[in-house]
Amino acid sequence: MSVLTESSAWKALEAQRKSLARVALTELFTQDPQRFPRLTIEAAGLMLDYSKNRVTGRTLSLLIELAGDADVEGWIARLFAGERVNTSEGRAALHLALRAPADRPMMVGGQNVMPAVEAERQRIGEFARAVRNGSSAGFDGRRILDVVVIGIGGSYLGPALGVDALEDGKGPRIHFVANIDGGEIVGALAGLEPATTLFIVISKTFTTTETTTNAETAREWFMAKGGPADALARHFIAVSANREAVAKFGLDPDRGFAFWDWVGGRYSLWSAVGLPIALAAGPEAFGELLGGAAEMDAHVRAAPPARNMAVLFALMGIWNRNFLGCGALAIVPYDRRLALLTPFLQQLEMESNGKRVTREGEAVDYPTVPVIWGGVGTNVQHAFFQALHQGPDIMPVDFLVARHGAGDAGHHRQLLANCLAQSEALMRGRDAAAAEAELIGRGIAAGEARRLAPHLVCPGGRPSNTILFERLDARTLGALLALYEHKVFVQGAIWRIDSFDQWGVELGKRLAGTILGELAGGAGAEHDASTAGLIARVRRD
Ligand code: F6P
Repeated sequence: MSVLTESSAWKALEAQRKSLARVALTELFTQDPQRFPRLTIEAAGLMLDYSKNRVTGRTLSLLIELAGDADVEGWIARLFAGERVNTSEGRAALHLALRAPADRPMMVGGQNVMPAVEAERQRIGEFARAVRNGSSAGFDGRRILDVVVIGIGGSYLGPALGVDALEDGKGPRIHFVANIDGGEIVGALAGLEPATTLFIVISKTFTTTETTTNAETAREWFMAKGGPADALARHFIAVSANREAVAKFGLDPDRGFAFWDWVGGRYSLWSAVGLPIALAAGPEAFGELLGGAAEMDAHVRAAPPARNMAVLFALMGIWNRNFLGCGALAIVPYDRRLALLTPFLQQLEMESNGKRVTREGEAVDYPTVPVIWGGVGTNVQHAFFQALHQGPDIMPVDFLVARHGAGDAGHHRQLLANCLAQSEALMRGRDAAAAEAELIGRGIAAGEARRLAPHLVCPGGRPSNTILFERLDARTLGALLALYEHKVFVQGAIWRIDSFDQWGVELGKRLAGTILGELAGGAGAEHDASTAGLIARVRRD
């Protein structure tokens, strides 16, 4: 047994689960007419409705107690104070500084990092403005029309999401190349001209093979298509925390952009890693994105747990995962511009909290991160929602929707109606009697209606959160992503894990290096029979 599962709050929550198991979610609303106002919270332009979770006031108090036992408030304070919350790597995780006001000192290792952060912010703005207005042009004086961004993981997902969500059509076209699959860079470069193309190579370490290989291919393409060697520095910009590796690759770190080892890859879009967003949406929008995140930070830092949106959001996840046994969480934004939110959150949540030992290295005896999956509504209603409504597993959903859309008001009303209807349907369900009556209402004979009714039954009682906001703009997106970052951190604190390392991804990378050598004709290494067999089959002429 661990400190967590031994705690009195944990045990009382186990008992709560049993006593709530047979209560219909709808019944909780009947019992408490104030449930909606009580179980909703607003901050930084977002409204979180968590009332469609199987919780009572007592459950909430116990969950808050659980957060108290884990010293969540203390961990939030340590995060903001720049302490080494990434314990296994001995680092701070101060991405919050990247969006903080310049005049408010943020300390890492006794040093105020804000002057360096602000200087880089200014450079990002100037560079983006110059490319967008054409004053920073290609080697033959023509305007930059295309930007190819090369990076993977946190050096891709955040910028790609931001560009998709916020681009205003007044900047260059942005193309992303992440995968080592050669088709990706070939596709991105098709039809481009070196003189009007800018390459931004983003990598915290600058040692990620996908990124360095793609950057090398891009450089070869540039030269092969007639780009002069002395224009390389103008057309290739690095964004990295590793100056030496940038220089070794042959790029000038001083012409590129810096960020710091206290910024985790999946938390880096707020730094120069977000440069593609500034190019696509404008530096002002990038500033708004940071401002929205800073507003959420201020709320999370100051609000007590019971009135703290990130803590409450995290606790709903803990309840569903650890007590109701839900192994998956679907993310369903009703906005096509948020199509990349799910992959972004997959990395944020699963790379951060996909851990099986505590900060002290003890095996946990409780599940940690659920599978994060999802897709854009309404499309996914016609794909996987069937399983959400009638499948054997209960999979909670985060619904996200704006009151006002970007396009036609009539379309948006339909989008909203669908979003709100889905969470209602998941919660209310449809019993056999209602199903039968519905069939009879459609003119189906009573016997046939009885036979078909079980197929129409939706058990209901399926939990969801809804995040509602005015409109999807830069400020809202900033607040939204910051909310999820804080939620992940709070859950990590309760699970007593290090949310900022990612040792698990390294083993596969190392083995790929060994196998790469073998596929290129090198000596065989020791493998299991399956892997050895596959290598031999691939090598067979
Ligand atoms: O997959 C592991 C990882 O280290 C991620 O955490 C990171 O975002 C990604 O690779 C890319 O790393 P880098 O920015 O150093 O190229």
